[in-house]
Amino acid sequence: MTAPVLEVRGLRKTYPGVLAVDDASFAVAPGEILGLVGKNGAGKSTVIKMVAGLVAPDAGEILVDGEPKALASSHAASVLGISVVHQELALVPRSSVAENVFLGLPYPRRAGLFVDWPELHRRTREVLARLGLTVDPRESVDGLSVAQQRMVMIARCLAWEARVVVLDEPTASLTDDEISHLLEVLRQLAADRVAIVYVSHRLEEVLGATDRVVVMRDGSVVADLVTATLTKQALVAGITGEAKASESQTVHVDRAGRPPGAELLRVTGLTRAPALHGVDLSLREGEVLGLAGLVGAGRTELARVLFGVDTPDSGTITVRGKDVVLRSPRAAMRERIALLPEDRRHQGNDTAQSIRKNTSLPTLRQHRAVRWLPRPSAAKERAASEEMVGRLGIKARSTEVAVGTLSGGNQQKVVLAKWLVHGADVFVFDEPTAGIDVEGKADVYGIVGELADAGKAVLFISSDLPELAAVSDRVVVLREGRVVAELTGEQVSEPEILGHCYGGADAATSA
Ligand SMILES: Nc1ncnc2c1ncn2[C@@H]1O[C@H](COP(=O)(O)OP(=O)(O)OP(=O)(O)O)[C@@H](O)[C@H]1O
Ligand SMILES: [Mg+2]
Repeated sequence: MTAPVLEVRGLRKTYPGVLAVDDASFAVAPGEILGLVGKNGAGKSTVIKMVAGLVAPDAGEILVDGEPKALASSHAASVLGISVVHQELALVPRSSVAENVFLGLPYPRRAGLFVDWPELHRRTREVLARLGLTVDPRESVDGLSVAQQRMVMIARCLAWEARVVVLDEPTASLTDDEISHLLEVLRQLAADRVAIVYVSHRLEEVLGATDRVVVMRDGSVVADLVTATLTKQALVAGITGEAKASESQTVHVDRAGRPPGAELLRVTGLTRAPALHGVDLSLREGEVLGLAGLVGAGRTELARVLFGVDTPDSGTITVRGKDVVLRSPRAAMRERIALLPEDRRHQGNDTAQSIRKNTSLPTLRQHRAVRWLPRPSAAKERAASEEMVGRLGIKARSTEVAVGTLSGGNQQKVVLAKWLVHGADVFVFDEPTAGIDVEGKADVYGIVGELADAGKAVLFISSDLPELAAVSDRVVVLREGRVVAELTGEQVSEPEILGHCYGGADAATSA
């Protein structure tokens, strides 16, 4: 192997009561794509934060070009050529795309004085074009989709001309198309001798894109493997630490298979410019309706309208046969509609609060110790919260720890726990398994199956097509804000869904 550009040796980091990283050692060479995998809470993000200069290690060394370096800040790491795209998006809000891409870099200036904005925008466009991104450099990042925001973060690495690019779950909410584009960009970077560290729970992606894979378990690196010799089964076994890979590696949903019951939700002619145009769909008790489409097709927009976050321009929403107007999430909750949002960090949890507080937020009334006292009982909250922590396998020391201290995947499970504690009749799940490890995914499928068997209705949005096909009884495909197909029975399959997403549907159905 060529001399590594980045090497970590015996890294260790403890938080009060938590050994986040015990012993992490690995190296990456120029031009190499290294996968970093492990279960939720294994310590991946913590290692990356140390490499990024955000967290100081308790022990161990970080070497750049064979020299031990003290990385006191993220700027120090950037200057050494290490650029990181974090799992939690870290864009500067209320700033433009260009300002975010060139954050921390000297701006082009005229007469060495005034910022040359046209030049900055031109350079930004150039970087964005390499990523196939067409957003306006002057646009505020607040209005971008999660996928676009992530691409802007990656653009920042390009602008810095990094020698080591570290990506923590970069594809968690991207579609297949965007993922293959991103992987293509990474391959180009690798061809230009950039070293890449790639964290992902999508194991097919890791097997397809990396040269080598480092596996972490309980804070330590337990394996360092050449990808070409690996099977998915072996990788899953390494991650879970079980000699035999469990069945959780295939998408499998256990269902009683009862026929759907009464109609719970109907949407007629729902329009909200520019995202949705005359959407019709219905959802019955005991049914899992998959919602497919490319990013921008209107899936998340539909979810937001159903949860009262956005109001439609026209159209009707009917719940249990009654037309309703959902002006706020509170109104949606009154109709027993729940949303697991895609952008969980901003819409899902209050990260400063404990797991207990978060899981009881929508349900304060239910946990009152004495009915006429407004204060919820901590004991009751804790019991409900603890049950969910167990059921979803949330890795946390106790239900009293702040959600912000949990690993990314575990934070997502907390949002799910919140709704399960609260209860609802219609569950809208927007990318529920993004960032969740193999075992956690199986838990989520189990819960979806249980909800349906209990007579609830689930609207399941996912960019992971094998998952969508396996979980859904029926699939509605959105394209450019319109329903372009409704698939039932045998038609609920990956190629069929994909065909309709891209509009090559006629070929797929006539074949
Ligand atoms: N600021 C913090 N305070 C306390 N504990 C923390 C903090 N950050 C991380 N931890 C703990 O360290 C452990 C490792 O977390 P880390 O985020 O590195 O996991 P991860 O491998 O990235 O998981 P995921 O796949 O879910 O993103 C977890 O148990 C987590 O709760
Ligand atoms: Mg993480």
